[in-house]
Amino acid sequence: MMRWLLIVLFPVVQSYLFGCYYDYSQPLVLPEQLPIGVCTHVLLIGAINVKNLNVNIIQRPYNGLNALQSMRDYRTRDSNKLKIIPSLVGDDDEWKTAMKDSESRSKFITSLIDFAKSQDLDGLDFDWEYPCGAYKSLFSQFIEELRLGVRKIFGNEFLLTTAVGAGKNTIDDCYEIGRLGESLDLIHLMTYDYHSIYDKQTGYSSPLYPKSIETDEARQYNTEWSAAYLVEQGVPRNKILIGLEGLGHTFQLNDSNIHDFAAPVVGTGYGGGWMTFIEYCLLVKTAGSNWDDEAKVNYTYYNDQWTNVGDVRAAAEKALFVKANSYGGAFTFGLHLDDPTDLCHHGETFPIHKTVARQLDLL
Ligand SMILES: *[C@@H]1O[C@H](CO)[C@@H](O)[C@H](O)[C@H]1NC(C)=O
Ligand SMILES: *[C@@H]1O[C@H](CO)[C@@H](O)[C@H](O)[C@H]1NC(C)=O
Repeated sequence: MMRWLLIVLFPVVQSYLFGCYYDYSQPLVLPEQLPIGVCTHVLLIGAINVKNLNVNIIQRPYNGLNALQSMRDYRTRDSNKLKIIPSLVGDDDEWKTAMKDSESRSKFITSLIDFAKSQDLDGLDFDWEYPCGAYKSLFSQFIEELRLGVRKIFGNEFLLTTAVGAGKNTIDDCYEIGRLGESLDLIHLMTYDYHSIYDKQTGYSSPLYPKSIETDEARQYNTEWSAAYLVEQGVPRNKILIGLEGLGHTFQLNDSNIHDFAAPVVGTGYGGGWMTFIEYCLLVKTAGSNWDDEAKVNYTYYNDQWTNVGDVRAAAEKALFVKANSYGGAFTFGLHLDDPTDLCHHGETFPIHKTVARQLDLL
């Protein structure tokens, strides 16, 4: 009876995870500036890659060991609850060599475990874009073998995660997603890059929901659809982290007067086709902006230019979506694209990250 009462009085609240990619090679945000108590795990990009069946520590143009040390320092500052998880990237050929047979996988796995031990890591993230075709099942096999090896050495605390593309074709062709959903701890679902100039019309990089004018296959190009698809394929909800990107595509409009969603475009716009969150928030101070209440995103245009980058309101909507659907949490790409000095006057540093962390009850 007492016990039942306690449960009623203190219901178990789901706690959410918030993964933050951090690209060490983008020095607009220095490791010393990173926010405290915001992320639950930091995914370090740019320290290591796959080479000759080994974890290779990048030597140039900076030393990857410095990046790893700065993450351990960050973990200490963050009262040691923060997990540090380097993200492993590599050339397609290097990945394929490492996966090809059980001998190669075993050598690679030994190297991964030695590296994790020597660098005092909390996990490893695999960012192979993408293990398609014949490598689809070899990748699952590799993760399962690694899982066994890791469990022996580190127990169950050590996290194995991946980044996964959000398009249906990528998921179908490149991942045994249900199988991975069993052996991985977390899937960072890259719910962005849904639309680009290849569509020959304006479109949002990371819409939360479909628009009412979208029909048939067009209704698959949004966060809600991709996440639901993973669940349908058997991935547990609490292992799915919903992605936010600090970048958006720029477009050149065919006609400056036609500038809403799905307006005809003739090519990429300024900035070589990309705009960062900071550039966007500075731009909209003068150009103004619009809120699409169906897709839950902000967009702007001026003359023949059109762009959309996730702002704080879109970030808050995504975090609410995570909670409403009981997903495991969110992740960003990344800390290096947020505003570390409040250049945009949101009233706080790292406004995107802090908005998400607050909505997920972490701050
Ligand atoms: C592009 O603009 C031109 C001139 O305004 C117009 O004739 C043409 O139909 C437009 N193309 C598309 C695809 O809307
Ligand atoms: C997004 O759109 C709304 C409505 O137009 C606006 O109030 C808000 O400031 C916009 N966000 C940014 C970053 O400009």
